[in-house]
Amino acid sequence: MHSSLLPKNQSKWSKRQIQILESIAEDFTVSTVQLESMATQFVHQMRVGLTEQKPSDLAMVPTFVTGRPNGYERGSYLALDLGGTNLRVCLINLKGNHELESHQKAFKVSEHLQEANVSELMDFIANSIKEFITSEHINAQIVAHPTDSESLELGFTFSFPVAQTAIDGGLLLRWTKGFNCPGAVDNDIVKLLQQALDRNKVNVHVAALVNDTVGTLLAHSYTHPGTYIGAIFGTGTNGAYVENTHNIKTMHADSDEMIINTEWGNFDKDKNYLPVTIFDNKLDRESINPGVHVFEKMISGMYLGEITRNVLLHLIDQRVLFEGTSSPKLNKHWSFETKFMSAIEDDTTGSLIPIAQVLEQELDLYINTQADREIVKFVCQLVGTRAARLSAMATAAVIRQGLDKGMLRNHGYPLKLSIHEEERVDQNGASKGADANRELIQVGIDGTVFEHYPRFEERMKQGLVELLGPHARDIIKLDIAKDGSGVGAALAALIATKTASASSR
Ligand code: BGC
Repeated sequence: MHSSLLPKNQSKWSKRQIQILESIAEDFTVSTVQLESMATQFVHQMRVGLTEQKPSDLAMVPTFVTGRPNGYERGSYLALDLGGTNLRVCLINLKGNHELESHQKAFKVSEHLQEANVSELMDFIANSIKEFITSEHINAQIVAHPTDSESLELGFTFSFPVAQTAIDGGLLLRWTKGFNCPGAVDNDIVKLLQQALDRNKVNVHVAALVNDTVGTLLAHSYTHPGTYIGAIFGTGTNGAYVENTHNIKTMHADSDEMIINTEWGNFDKDKNYLPVTIFDNKLDRESINPGVHVFEKMISGMYLGEITRNVLLHLIDQRVLFEGTSSPKLNKHWSFETKFMSAIEDDTTGSLIPIAQVLEQELDLYINTQADREIVKFVCQLVGTRAARLSAMATAAVIRQGLDKGMLRNHGYPLKLSIHEEERVDQNGASKGADANRELIQVGIDGTVFEHYPRFEERMKQGLVELLGPHARDIIKLDIAKDGSGVGAALAALIATKTASASSR
């Protein structure tokens, strides 16, 4: 037992509290050695996915998106973003020079729709688009920037695992993140949407289908050409990256590069390498899709609160928290939201009164001592830190693939500063900090966990350093690509319509 795993300035915890918390801390702490072995396995599963048609872990979906935007693209496109409880419909005006304008409207996808027949979901989407484009404001926009074709061209960001068959087609592999609409799995998502648009007399043509990670990668490339990874750390998690087509054995491509959607949420499906705890297993068993996306369930916003709730209930049952008493609210599945964890981790006051407020106002837990509040905070830190370190592991593994075999071969491993950089490092080894000649590895990231969870980024960076060397901090740039999916969908529609008109010439 390492008592060093416990927080340093805790008030007086009982011997039993210390003993039980130490064992929980051990379960949730992921060492560098563990990260290393997972990263090695991750790269292995990436390579299996690039070779086998039906890999069991990482799907490694070729997206048919070849090449990345350079920021000079122009035109107006509709974009649709479906991936969680909100559907966003956007009109994106790409103005060239890395600039763009966007108008958007969000529509709530009700719990009923998340499990309704897929045709009902698609009718809802078609009608939301209709409502959006008939609003006068948007019509004025379209008139000002007409597209070439008669119907409006639309890019669809659909944030679920899809086996892409073309840039404008793909079969749903499985639902995730609480969706479970019958009639969609193994069917072409673009066809389902196009049929609904036609059925509802909406004059829109679905030109491209992309995953949100791919959208994020494209959107970030528009403002930061050369971006290598697009990642989401939000309700769910996933990453897409640029692969050298020589390495993709599951299809033939004429281009040099293609974006691959890794679907990393399903990494190590059989839990041979992941440090799963009894609390993760409980969550998985009680989820809508047991045995699927176990990795995602340890990382993303939909699940972190529930893992924490499972740990807190265990501590209550052991009588080392809240005097052994829970509340009806805390007893309820999914009642402990990830945003509560953010508020709890953000509390750096000595008295931890803000934590008491969360416990009392959100969860009716009125009996909470200073020790209770410290314990709740500590559990959030354990769950949140593990999530960030696992996220770093996935990101580092994708970077390793690029360093070993793919698009990043001009970087060394472990990451080294370039020759230009070395000249800028003074005799004491400190970087003089000029960015000018730095060849960055750019990662565009979207998602509430990355954006709002306290210290998530810092913890991720620490993991990257452990896996890729001390210069990872200087060379890897983790950048927020807010609402990347909408812009990315528009860029995908542009790429698709350009490719279609070039091949019909
Ligand atoms: C889906 C991915 C998506 C990710 C982030 C996962 O549940 O399988 O396709 O990219 O969530 O939204």
